[in-house]
Amino acid sequence: MLDATGHVYLDYTAANLIPQSLVARHTALLRDHLLGNPHSSNPSSALTTTFVDQARLSVLEFFNADPDEYVVIFTGNATQALKLVGESYHFSESGEYVLTFDNHNSVNGIREFARVKGCPTIYVPVVLPEMRVNDAELAFVLERGGAGGPRLFAYPAQSNFSGVQHPLDWIPFAQERGWDVLLDAAAFTPTNPLDLSRWSPDFVSQSFYKMFGYPTGVGCLIARKEALAKLRRPWFAGGTITVASVQGDRYYLAEGASAFEDGTPNYLALPGVAFGLEYLTSIGIDVIHKHVTQLTADLIERLTALRHSNGAALARIYGPRSAIRRGGTVTFNMYDQHGRAIDHRDVEARANAANISLRTGCFCNPGGGEIALGITGTDLSSCFHQPEHETHLTIDDFRLCIDGKSTGAVRVSLGLVSNLADVAGFTTFAETFLT
Ligand SMILES: Cc1ncc(COP(=O)(O)O)c(C=O)c1O
Repeated sequence: MLDATGHVYLDYTAANLIPQSLVARHTALLRDHLLGNPHSSNPSSALTTTFVDQARLSVLEFFNADPDEYVVIFTGNATQALKLVGESYHFSESGEYVLTFDNHNSVNGIREFARVKGCPTIYVPVVLPEMRVNDAELAFVLERGGAGGPRLFAYPAQSNFSGVQHPLDWIPFAQERGWDVLLDAAAFTPTNPLDLSRWSPDFVSQSFYKMFGYPTGVGCLIARKEALAKLRRPWFAGGTITVASVQGDRYYLAEGASAFEDGTPNYLALPGVAFGLEYLTSIGIDVIHKHVTQLTADLIERLTALRHSNGAALARIYGPRSAIRRGGTVTFNMYDQHGRAIDHRDVEARANAANISLRTGCFCNPGGGEIALGITGTDLSSCFHQPEHETHLTIDDFRLCIDGKSTGAVRVSLGLVSNLADVAGFTTFAETFLT
């Protein structure tokens, strides 16, 4: 499809492309089997349950997770997985919620559940130019005794803003000091192995369309049984209880994953998840990792080599300029030969016209954006506290009130089927900004 249309697809951090073989295999399964709603013993239901169980097992196997230690809870996407943790975590006034500046909004939003329960939220910054966390600063925050309440530490294994891979050895470091660790793996797992026999985060969130493109509408929370047992769901729903009564005004939650899967799961899609994981395994996640790493190194090299006629660099990259401890997400802004920023919206418009799919803005990662673009807490609070912005703020208002500073960047991201021609196609496009 890419070759036929001359499309340069550079948005893998948003979504992987659809493997046709996977769609064909899934379609054949739906054609050849009679599948009903699970949660019953009739034959159509029982067969569906078999496929759902298989999908659950495939996820555990893919991540090398011990079924005695971990459960897989199917959700609609990574965001729903994160919300399950946020709404059920036993935040308290004597606890803490610690997270990195570099996080997707679906992790940032958990702070609102913490806030309602009076639990303080602490952000640990990332530092330019690489946009990594200062390890000593993080250690200081994690090592403080705290007031004895439950403590949750959340971070992304890979940044969807800068591509930085944050160290997985923060997981045991935090756990040894009494923290529960929520690892947002959504941007990491499409191109990196995550071995849950080596690393034991308490909670892992992800969306499957990011890993293998199809099906959409399914993600999961992989949870350590011990950590899951401490969560308290704020409600019950169809599928999550053993018994609920109207007149008796009581309900009894089901055990394990069932207590967290609200209503009917996306049961027709789940066999596709098992096939998708087999598809990645057939290629080899290590092969994918190596491929994307090499292309990323090439992309960065070409982008940083672009110079205007007066020698000024075209692009400033936010994040590592080598392929070490980073993924295939490269975020930057372009500048003219006088050092004036080229509006990222213009870059996007020209890319669209050239049939290149890239992404601009802050990618739902405002902390990453604020650090990269030098937007300070003072800029933000004077903007947010203007009376007209009490309840409503459009992106254009925001741009105006932070005094014309750039509010976004350009992101190109590579994945499973990216190739050298994509990198070359992008470089040719970037060259059109040189003067
Ligand atoms: C790091 C990270 N976390 C979470 C999400 C949210 O994923 P979804 O929109 O599929 O829920 C994304 C999506 O881009 C992401 O990149």
